[in-house]
Amino acid sequence: MYKSSMDDYKAMNRYEKKRYSIRYREIVDSTNNWAKEEARLGASEGTVLTADMQTAGKGRRGRSWESPTGTSIYMSLILRPQIAPEKASMLTLVLGLSAAQAIRDLFGLEVLIKWPNDLVISGKKICGILTEMNVGAGGIEYVVAGIGINVNTREFPEELADKGTSLCLEYGKEIDRQVLMEAVLDRFFRNYELFLEKQDLSLLVDEYNAVLVNRGKSIRVLEPGHEYDGISGGINEKGELLVTREDGTEVAVYAGEVSVRGLYGYV
Ligand code: BTN
Repeated sequence: MYKSSMDDYKAMNRYEKKRYSIRYREIVDSTNNWAKEEARLGASEGTVLTADMQTAGKGRRGRSWESPTGTSIYMSLILRPQIAPEKASMLTLVLGLSAAQAIRDLFGLEVLIKWPNDLVISGKKICGILTEMNVGAGGIEYVVAGIGINVNTREFPEELADKGTSLCLEYGKEIDRQVLMEAVLDRFFRNYELFLEKQDLSLLVDEYNAVLVNRGKSIRVLEPGHEYDGISGGINEKGELLVTREDGTEVAVYAGEVSVRGLYGYV
């Protein structure tokens, strides 16, 4: 099953013109830092920076991202979208959806998205995304979208063991990182075109909501200095999570500002 779906995938994409070019280094501090440096030096949209290991992998909210050698995918995409800066947080959702689609297509695993962009299998995280942006007087100069996927990780540090998993543990076999990386990128650049066409998620929202783990669940919204509980709906075309609060009012929660936590366990 694994081999044939890999072969199908390679055959399907053999003649597709790639909208990206990949650069590789064995060790970097963070592929996001490397990408920002290359973007400042003028690297074009579609440049992808990837490394086998990161010595200072960055997670969201100032956290670090475990990045050992030989097991996972760490890559950062340079984008130069001509959109208003406040729309850039939607790119994170586009990348999360693309990674979920690629994993499902290649391995048939049921991968879900914890809004806005954690990928989850069997209730445990397998992937995180960190998007950074530089805005000048003329608007966005570049966006760096960095993604880390736990691919062939067999063991997690004690504090992550009940929260994290890898594709290899879920699928039961070693996975070719290069094939998966290209599958994610192929999906992403197709979805990115759909995003740019409307400058929002209206052409992707149904697919996103179909794999949204939070949907219909009790969640807690964590806004800076303010928390409240509610029931989560899907996202709208701006990528906001629609939440019905306990008093019956509906609010749209903006991805760039807050996070949500399932009230029961990680998701
Ligand atoms: C999260 O906290 O969930 C986001 C994790 C993002 C990790 C990736 S790995 C590739 C890229 N380089 C980094 O330093 N971080 C991102």
